[in-house]
Amino acid sequence: MIIKTGNMFFLQGRGTSYVIRISEEGYVLHDYFGAEIAPEPYAEDKRGWWCMQATGADGACLDEIRQEYPCYGHTDLRRPAVNANRGTVLKYKDYEIIDGKPDLKRLPSALGGGSESLIITLADELSGAEVKLNYTVFEGSGIVCRSAVITNTGDEPLVIDRAFSASIEFPCSDFVEMHFSGSWGRERHVVKNELVHGIYEIENARGGSGNQINPFVILKDKAADEDGGDCYGFMLVYSGDHCTEIEVDQRGRTRVNAGINPFMFEKTLVKGESFTTPECILGYGNGLGELSREYHDFIRKRICRGSWSRKERPVLINNWEATYMDFDEDKLISIATLAAELGIELFVLDDGWFGKRDNDRCSLGDWTVNTDKIPSGLSGLAKKINGLGLKFGLWFEPEMVSPDSELYRAHPDWVIRSGREPALIRSQLVLDLTKPEVREYIINAVNAVLNSANIEYVKWDMNRYITDMPRKGFNYEYTLGFYEIMDGIVNSHPDILFEGCSSGGARFDAGVLCYMPQIWTSDDTDPIERVYIQYGTSFGYPPSTMGSHVTESPNQHTRRHLSMKTRGDVSLSGNFGYELDITKLNEADLEAIKEQTALCRELRGLVEYGDFYRLFDPFDGNLGGWMSVSGDKSRAYVCIARVLFKPNSYYTRLKLKGLDKNSRYRDLDTGKEYMGDMLMNRGLLIEFPFGDFTTVTMRLERIEGSTSGE
Ligand code: DGJ
Repeated sequence: MIIKTGNMFFLQGRGTSYVIRISEEGYVLHDYFGAEIAPEPYAEDKRGWWCMQATGADGACLDEIRQEYPCYGHTDLRRPAVNANRGTVLKYKDYEIIDGKPDLKRLPSALGGGSESLIITLADELSGAEVKLNYTVFEGSGIVCRSAVITNTGDEPLVIDRAFSASIEFPCSDFVEMHFSGSWGRERHVVKNELVHGIYEIENARGGSGNQINPFVILKDKAADEDGGDCYGFMLVYSGDHCTEIEVDQRGRTRVNAGINPFMFEKTLVKGESFTTPECILGYGNGLGELSREYHDFIRKRICRGSWSRKERPVLINNWEATYMDFDEDKLISIATLAAELGIELFVLDDGWFGKRDNDRCSLGDWTVNTDKIPSGLSGLAKKINGLGLKFGLWFEPEMVSPDSELYRAHPDWVIRSGREPALIRSQLVLDLTKPEVREYIINAVNAVLNSANIEYVKWDMNRYITDMPRKGFNYEYTLGFYEIMDGIVNSHPDILFEGCSSGGARFDAGVLCYMPQIWTSDDTDPIERVYIQYGTSFGYPPSTMGSHVTESPNQHTRRHLSMKTRGDVSLSGNFGYELDITKLNEADLEAIKEQTALCRELRGLVEYGDFYRLFDPFDGNLGGWMSVSGDKSRAYVCIARVLFKPNSYYTRLKLKGLDKNSRYRDLDTGKEYMGDMLMNRGLLIEFPFGDFTTVTMRLERIEGSTSGE
């Protein structure tokens, strides 16, 4: 609900309020974001008009005022949300409240059913810059989505060199910022910093959102933990260069700007032209757990779309770590035949099926099947796989081209170039998606393959970052090109399950999730490494978005030996699957796989769509753990993993969360029964079994009729 009362706007979400005030001088001020307050006007806290500060003709000193979309250069010298020409001064012009959301044109954004938006227009008389600030609140959610549209209404060109999606100013700085950083194989590890005076940028300028820094940042009160304290989230619905800039100013206030990274950005608007920023999803939670559950719910309902967004995901087997590119049709069929017997539901053919692709130095761009390897062609192979009772899925990397390819030989001008020979990464170049003919080629080539066989799943990979960009602002245009391609392919195949991938999880963001409801979380499938990666990822993204596979032991990336049970338990906490040569396994492991696929069918609805609670922080101790609770609190699944084996280690008290305190639950493995409040307050003692079992799991089910008062 959006309420205007006097000079204040109250944006009321489920349990949250976002308050904007228009000052008497006509500035749009940020007043409050956090736990819900009544939409009753209150007095302005107007301090800081002190003599040594710059004041404008209207007497205002913007350096001292918390604003919704600050500018630089007149009376505010902090880092602005927007900057154009010689600096702008934006003043309130008018407002509008609409049902639903404004259209963000070529950018993906949250679904707007059951939402209401406030659009505030600001204008700068001198430059002719006009800015529309969009704010949306949603039924049944505490999230506020923001974006901005900048229009040049003047005669002179307007050169924008920064245009953030959202800016929020807090009156204090006793916060810890949390972001999710890493590298290939080590994505989204939790990093925490106490804020200090100065400017801190959490940013990436590699073309894709990147595995170095995820476009999601949290600010939390120093004392806030999983279960309480003010926590604020800034998540971008964007897959390109991004930046969250945190400035603690001379008075100890904190300004957070979140949006496109200004470092390599510039856009010139001619008269009448507009620029739209990506959307920023602002979240608030009383505790990190509540904040995450708010994002999980929002992503599942309003970011992921298409027929697979609410469906249970199939158990898959992918041939990558089993065969790499060294396979033939018989090998694939032998894996698929056994997979069907073990209860696996989807067979995915990874890299190496097209052109002359026997190694990673050729053929990207030539999306025609290699019939030497697959004599039946894709259609024939899909039929055989379907005949075994499995769905068939296929890998692509359509944004790329190998210099050794038919496509490159025909169109060397289609790659991104700055003038010098472009850098190769993994022997490949990036196609210039800003060119309409390149987008058209990709859309047609991929659609032709998808229409040629019964392909029910696509893994969309992107294995390098962008270099040699020809101009500032290029990466933004590339990202728009990527989204246009997504529109042209995903939307014409609404029943195909798409999984995003980028050398593992290097493009794991809400922009990608608007098209593909799941993403390959990391190439690192060592379950202990995955405890860190999946734990870090869970702060912003629900388990339904995380691809999570059992691979061989010792793990190919870490050489760590771990049991099939440990590998299965951790993988069962995401979209479950296998990525190893099952034809080489012993009977015991094959039996374990049969049990795991059955368990996955039992648990996946709960894991993918339940409420997620973090229990143990692996970045702060030897254990990592979490649990999922069904919406009606009738079922729960708990998974705890131990990082290092310690002989005669201490017992661990496991206090569960999110259960119904008045219900009695049965542990489905031991048959033991416990009351919900006992499990959450007293807890249980857990001990890890001896051997290479490094996980403890628990499945709980409410005993019908057990709830007090029933
Ligand atoms: C990187 C992905 O993360 C892997 O899973 C695999 O698909 C390879 N690319 C294939 O080249």
